[in-house]
Amino acid sequence: MDYSIKLLENWGALDTDCLIAGFYHKRKLGTSAAQLDEKLSGLLSRILKRDSVEGKIGDTLLINHLPDEQIQRILLVGLGKKEELNRTSYRKLLGEAIHALKASHARQAVSTLHEIDVPDACISWKIRQTIEIFEAGNYRFDQLKTTPENTSPENRLSKIRLLVSGIKDEAAAAKGIKQGEAIAAGMKLAKDLSNLPGNICTPAYLAEQAQKVGKGHKKLKVKILDEADIEQLGMGSFLSVSRGSRQPPRLIVMEYYGAADKTGPHVLIGKGLTFDAGGISIKPSANMDEMKYDMCGGASVIGALAVAAELELPLNVIGLVPSSENLPDGNANKPGDIVTSLSGLTIEILNTDAEGRLLLCDVLTYAKRYEPAAVIDVATLTGACIVALGRHPSGIMGNDDDLCRQLTEAGEHACDRVWRLPIWEEYQEQLKSNFADLANIGGPDGGTITAGRFLSNFAKEFKWAHVDIAGTAWKTGKEKGATGRPVPLLSQYLIDQVE
Ligand code: BES
Ligand code: MN
Ligand code: ZN
Repeated sequence: MDYSIKLLENWGALDTDCLIAGFYHKRKLGTSAAQLDEKLSGLLSRILKRDSVEGKIGDTLLINHLPDEQIQRILLVGLGKKEELNRTSYRKLLGEAIHALKASHARQAVSTLHEIDVPDACISWKIRQTIEIFEAGNYRFDQLKTTPENTSPENRLSKIRLLVSGIKDEAAAAKGIKQGEAIAAGMKLAKDLSNLPGNICTPAYLAEQAQKVGKGHKKLKVKILDEADIEQLGMGSFLSVSRGSRQPPRLIVMEYYGAADKTGPHVLIGKGLTFDAGGISIKPSANMDEMKYDMCGGASVIGALAVAAELELPLNVIGLVPSSENLPDGNANKPGDIVTSLSGLTIEILNTDAEGRLLLCDVLTYAKRYEPAAVIDVATLTGACIVALGRHPSGIMGNDDDLCRQLTEAGEHACDRVWRLPIWEEYQEQLKSNFADLANIGGPDGGTITAGRFLSNFAKEFKWAHVDIAGTAWKTGKEKGATGRPVPLLSQYLIDQVE
């Protein structure tokens, strides 16, 4: 959809398929709704009095057939009680608004919902959320259905104007639009890649898509390392996983140099398992299809690099996505196998399903060559993370309090939250192997933590954080599908480095 600012001159001059305005609990009209009501000689108040909706958060009331031709419809959205409105409920009412707007068959609309007072939310934040949530509400993944569910292009909602009443809000609104559009596009890219099945989205396909993103931006260079390159580098741990699959691995390297010189990049690493069957330690079949989402970390890193390039952020960002399948095969890792990582540390593979860390450890070692300001890896790493934290926050661990704090604040601001877990040295005990330097699993206790602790052994020389997105990268059940997380988190972290 296309978003733009509309400066309000007078209500009489406004022309739209649908005007979206808010009303509070007990049918109390918000600023724009009250002005419209006056223009319509009290029509909105009269209609609300007759209707049963009272203005609870997310209530919607579509008023069709207005006497006036210029504003064809009005969508009233419930804001709840003024004193109870917060950022979470604001996001909820935006979700209901886009749902009702889509059902209204309007092709373009004017929204005023960013005029609402929300604690700790400025106009650019509110506009950014509007765009992110409207885009998410309008998202469909139907490219593989022979008859797409989408309505025909001419009837599709395609244009949203955000009404701004004074010049003073214009710059902030423009910033909100720019960031909102870039982040929403990054999320859509991540979702599309993630929702594709493993037989289409292979490591080679993922690499091609990253290259496509690179072609769109002058300051973004994309290199693809193939199996021979990965072997040449000495990534024995990464290769041990991909060896058990007919699809050859890729290491996607995206380099965005937006700063004056090439120093001190922020390195983002994303787990890119295009399918994880578990290998010889094979997973149970129930819901195994969801393991096509084991590349959501990689997809979100590709998405975040697209955002950085689109916003032309004046900083350097490197994206590294190791991509592979994890399947059972005559050539696959066997429990008890010992591999040598790029760092030189040897690893005993006690469970072939703990494969993500086997890719990530080699790429963490690889990241050192950039002399990074910080390294952040994102990965659907452990089912235990869903047990520990549920599906609202991602888990975060790291070796630097300041970096973990920055990410926590970025997640809070971007509504893509993380919650920190410890990786104290006491946990190292669980990773002891009788035969190698490290075991790849730490037993039943604290599975998310021991995975993070395992990675910390390869991140000793730079500031590093690990984000476990197993519970947040996709939705399971009836609404199964990728969420686009943690693109907002990573984007906000990058924006915070320069603002
Ligand atoms: N990709 C999975 C983690 C996962 C599982 C994410 C379920 C989301 C939902 C990962 O590769 C994995 O299999 N981890 C194992 C680790 C265990 C063998 C120590 C797990 O979580 O069971
Ligand atoms: Mn696994
Ligand atoms: Zn996995």
